[in-house]
Amino acid sequence: MDNISYIAFLSFLLLGEVLLVSGSSDTSFNQSYDITWGYNHVLSLNDGREIQLSMDASSGAGFQSKLSYNSGFFRLRMKLPDKDSAGVVTAFYLTSHSDKHDELDFEFLGNREGKPYTLQTNVFSNGEGNREQRLHLWFDPTADFHAYQILWNQQQIVFFVDNTPIRVFKNNTNIGVSYPSQPMQIEASLWDGDNWATDGGQTKTNWSHAPFNAHFQGFDITGCPYNLNSNIQQNCYSPQYWWNLEKYWKLDSNQQSAYEDVRKKYITYDYCADSPRYPTPPPECLVL
Ligand SMILES: *[C@@H]1O[C@H](CO)[C@@H](O)[C@H](O)[C@H]1NC(C)=O
Ligand SMILES: *[C@@H]1O[C@H](CO)[C@@H](O)[C@H](O)[C@H]1NC(C)=O
Ligand SMILES: *[C@@H]1O[C@H](CO)[C@@H](O)[C@H](O)[C@H]1NC(C)=O
Repeated sequence: MDNISYIAFLSFLLLGEVLLVSGSSDTSFNQSYDITWGYNHVLSLNDGREIQLSMDASSGAGFQSKLSYNSGFFRLRMKLPDKDSAGVVTAFYLTSHSDKHDELDFEFLGNREGKPYTLQTNVFSNGEGNREQRLHLWFDPTADFHAYQILWNQQQIVFFVDNTPIRVFKNNTNIGVSYPSQPMQIEASLWDGDNWATDGGQTKTNWSHAPFNAHFQGFDITGCPYNLNSNIQQNCYSPQYWWNLEKYWKLDSNQQSAYEDVRKKYITYDYCADSPRYPTPPPECLVL
């Protein structure tokens, strides 16, 4: 490494550490994202540093990143619809839009006032999904902004809430489990999911509480942009990106104990433990 690239490398490291702990930014929405639907249900606040999506009986709304990515540490700060949000789904995910698609989901499932939100995560790889996990958060996600983050490198995918790992999906290709590798866009949306989201669809959206509003911040993107003209595998998995460094290939010991604590206290559903659904557990469930 020459001096310049060494300095660039160091500043990547530093940036990485800062971003892991901070999470706020001055990047405006328009620099990295486009609205995809429900244009008249989107409000730009604070010079585009905050976006509000609204849902009423006529529409919800959504946005997506301008670019696709092949690795990174993706995150949004979100404040969810408050009061009676039953049936309302707020989603933040990465998706490849392809035929056998890759997708990494945060889905926040609303609830009647006073009852907790459920945070559902899912992982699709090469078109295979059905890997739901659900938990209740240790705070009220409607009261304040919190950071929801997805680390994606070649060795692991980790979902974080405020830097606490809540889910780990390892690269288990050596035992035949496919692992996300396609370029993915970052998306967020607010929509009516009352046919499934709350109590399995039995608790419906109460439209007298509309509009439902979700707020988003933190539009800088820490990822390796997909470039059609270069060798993506080579470039996006390179250690020039801090999230690909070996220290991010598995949880460190503090993260591991925080993760175990979350699993012990807050998980309400895990497909790995659903034996009526999977009499033989999926292979990735056996190698935790
Ligand atoms: C972002 O772009 C939209 C559409 O071009 C425009 O209406 C809006 O004013 C822009 N917002 C900011 C904060 O620049
Ligand atoms: C999974 O890990 C193996 C071994 O490190 C690596 O060769 C492979 O490219 C990884 N797969 C993906 C899709 O990242
Ligand atoms: C919907 O909300 C209104 C206003 O709070 C309330 O009067 C009504 O009972 C609610 N309906 C249901 C089905 O909960």
